[in-house]
Amino acid sequence: MAFSRYFLFSISVSILLLLSCHVEAAPNAALVTSLPGFNGAFPSKHYSGYVTIDSNPQKNLFYYFVVSEGNPSKDPLVLWLNGGPGCSGFDGFVYEHGPFNFEAPKSQGELPILHLNPYSWSKVSNIIYLDSPSGVGFSYPNLTTGDFQTASDTHAFLLKWLEQYPEFQANPFYMSGESYAGVYIPTLATEVDKGIKAGVTPRINFKGYLVGNGVCDPKFDVNNGYVAFVHGMGLIPDSLFKEAEAACKGDYDHQDPPCKEKVSQIDNLVSGLNVYDILEPCYHKTTSTKNTSLPKSFQELGKTDKPLPVRKRMFGRAWPYRAPVRDGIVPSWPQLTQSLQAQGISVPCTNDEVATAWLNAEAVRKAIHASPESGSWSLCNYLAYNHDAGSMIPYHKNLTSAGYPALIYSGDHDMCIPFTATEAWTASLGYPVVDQWRPWLSNDQVAGYLVEYAHNLTFLTVKGSGHTVPEYKPQEALNFYTRWLQGQKI
Ligand SMILES: *[C@@H]1O[C@H](CO)[C@@H](O)[C@H](O)[C@H]1NC(C)=O
Ligand SMILES: *[C@@H]1O[C@H](CO)[C@@H](O)[C@H](O)[C@H]1NC(C)=O
Ligand SMILES: *[C@@H]1O[C@H](CO)[C@@H](O)[C@H](O)[C@H]1NC(C)=O
Ligand SMILES: *[C@@H]1O[C@H](CO)[C@@H](O)[C@H](O)[C@H]1NC(C)=O
Repeated sequence: MAFSRYFLFSISVSILLLLSCHVEAAPNAALVTSLPGFNGAFPSKHYSGYVTIDSNPQKNLFYYFVVSEGNPSKDPLVLWLNGGPGCSGFDGFVYEHGPFNFEAPKSQGELPILHLNPYSWSKVSNIIYLDSPSGVGFSYPNLTTGDFQTASDTHAFLLKWLEQYPEFQANPFYMSGESYAGVYIPTLATEVDKGIKAGVTPRINFKGYLVGNGVCDPKFDVNNGYVAFVHGMGLIPDSLFKEAEAACKGDYDHQDPPCKEKVSQIDNLVSGLNVYDILEPCYHKTTSTKNTSLPKSFQELGKTDKPLPVRKRMFGRAWPYRAPVRDGIVPSWPQLTQSLQAQGISVPCTNDEVATAWLNAEAVRKAIHASPESGSWSLCNYLAYNHDAGSMIPYHKNLTSAGYPALIYSGDHDMCIPFTATEAWTASLGYPVVDQWRPWLSNDQVAGYLVEYAHNLTFLTVKGSGHTVPEYKPQEALNFYTRWLQGQKI
């Protein structure tokens, strides 16, 4: 028994050694050779697996790495993080800018069908999708954590990952993410910058960061976000806006009864909308869209170049507009939904069925080296998570002053983190404008607006997009991403 096991082990070691002659230095065991639901050849190499962080207990952080379909040795290396806190990087991989579009199966019990995504961010970059912090997606175990611990763990992940993939150490490195990653990115960037200054090796060739519809600062996110947005979008009457302004005196979060009453009137007017994209329908039940009485034009709202509809129902966890991200323990999604439901507000509005079915299929988990110890996969897990880093504004100030370019973008129809909040805090840094507010184009059409400040800080909107920009506007997203990474004018 013992002998034959040893024998098998040594055969597999020799096979691994043989295989390693064909690959540079990336770990062979991580190579993904095929994926259930996809029949063609991969346009580039894919790797996935765990990096183990030395801590007590050990943390096993899961990544999926897509090598660039362009020029892998020259193209940037980009880290992608989804928010929550608690949401998996596979949200980005499956629904936003990953190498595949996932077509829902025709009948129940079948797996989704994968098609190549012509707007994958892997067209122009090497991209690491990370499940962070430990406890999210396939990363395990589930431990109590917070902003500082997460930044430090992700920094440790990057250093170990670069040791395992030395051929990517020299590529320019960027980090990107959306929503609560508006906190992950600046805190991680600060850790990485400190590491570079302290001479930590391998040296991370850190060149800048991107944040989409990101959490930033409770004052700006609340006071400049929601009320200004719903007013500008024509969802509340001007008279109510003026009454709310007078009652709240610029602080829509304060608890005075006159202000609370006005804000609650506003809430009632917009509570039926899809918080992630006010143009999208919001289905409250699992109803067949085939027999809907909605007019066809309404059913086709938000159609994109992506051949598949964007998500319409929420089973995961994200931020409703009623819950600004405050310091301290971040409430769980079940807790949030309970309190919203008690106020008669139902929960918006996406669907994670395709990802959930695919990532829980045994064959898929085997193909991507996901450990059974990580348990079943969900889009967003509840974690005991402490928002302990406060406002992100001092982080952005320091990082941009230190010379790291930042692209801060907003889907302009997102009510969760409205562009009005992001526009206001980026302007509040007080940098001189170097490129005046102007339209930017994609496919010869106005795709949104941008303003560029000194210190390479750009604020950009994506017209007609919801919270997850590459999901709603994949072509436009790949356009601005490519131009910005390549240092061109957007
Ligand atoms: C749609 O409605 C029609 C008539 O109301 C019914 O006969 C049909 O079975 C329904 N189709 C689906 C898919 O529910
Ligand atoms: C993670 O741990 C917390 C408590 O520490 C628990 O409430 C939560 O349900 C756990 N999440 C998962 C996905 O197991
Ligand atoms: C920003 O830089 C200042 C000056 O070096 C420092 O005191 C402060 O702690 C930094 N803040 C953050 C959030 O990095
Ligand atoms: C902006 O970034 C470019 C490189 O991308 C750099 O050459 C330039 O000095 C930066 N400008 C500022 C003001 O930091």
